[in-house]
Amino acid sequence: MTGQTAPAQPAGPSISVDVPAKINPHLGVGDPRADGYHALSTVYQAISLHDTVSAERLSTAEGSEGPGIRLTLSGEGAGTLPTDEANLAYQAAKLVALYAGIEPDVRLHVNKRIPVAGGLAGGSADAAGALIACARLWEVPIGDAELHRLAAGLGSDVPFCLKGGTAIGAGRGEELTPVAAKGSWHWVVATTDTQISTPECYKEVDRLREDGIGRFSSDVDAIVQAFEGGASADELARLLVNDMEAAAVSLRPQLASLMHGGLAEGALAAHVSGSGPTVLFLAHDVKHAVALARRIRMRGGARSVHLAHGPVEGPAA
Ligand code: C5P
Repeated sequence: MTGQTAPAQPAGPSISVDVPAKINPHLGVGDPRADGYHALSTVYQAISLHDTVSAERLSTAEGSEGPGIRLTLSGEGAGTLPTDEANLAYQAAKLVALYAGIEPDVRLHVNKRIPVAGGLAGGSADAAGALIACARLWEVPIGDAELHRLAAGLGSDVPFCLKGGTAIGAGRGEELTPVAAKGSWHWVVATTDTQISTPECYKEVDRLREDGIGRFSSDVDAIVQAFEGGASADELARLLVNDMEAAAVSLRPQLASLMHGGLAEGALAAHVSGSGPTVLFLAHDVKHAVALARRIRMRGGARSVHLAHGPVEGPAA
């Protein structure tokens, strides 16, 4: 007995996956279905704000506590978000292990830049990243269709987060048809101090509909053609639709002044991202976006202001 402990084995290679946030330039919300989900007719687009998911095997020292999943977070929301089973990235790792019939053995780290509960699918992006990273780490032979099925089980936006680019989303959002968008569009992304939970916003959509406010914008043809034809930002501005916008503003009335402020500063359009409360301002080009971001920052009212462009490729590209 020497009194020395064996050095921990190196944890092996680390896999790192960047997963972009999504926006919904068109978000049509139908009635609730029998399963409680709402029928969607949406167009997703991945933008240049991303989280990074890294995965490596637990070291021998950690492994002595038994195999498992350890999750750590840094950046946006670290310290407030769960790092256990309640985190979608944790659930994704568990699901891959279950699919492969193996005991999970992973140290996952998510460096978060996508604002939390902001309507940008940050949690779904992390889940998509964890699916890909764990499948690569554990060398799980899994095809696109199976990966898509696991993703859909984790959440409606997770399949799109795997794919990136631009896509039509049907069903509850998980039935994807890729769109060959020609061009790049520039956004100013303004986050707010508040958060909106997705189910809360869907419930508000239902409540407003009972009062006769809002309808299902099911037709995505015009905006799909605009993306395929490389439409100008001015044209795109006229085609943006979000059936959840009234609900988000009803839940967080301060969004209205943020939106009006951005328009007054010259944004081509103000568009609530998904279920909000993040607001997207469309700019002519990158130069306009930089100037617009500065003016929106100076006005106050936003928690943080970012520049983003889309579409960008997804992690599985
Ligand atoms: O699919 P996901 O787990 O992200 O959805 C979170 C919640 O948002 C669901 O439980 C449901 O309340 C609501 N939702 C919905 N219709 C959709 C997607 C989500 O009502 N198409």
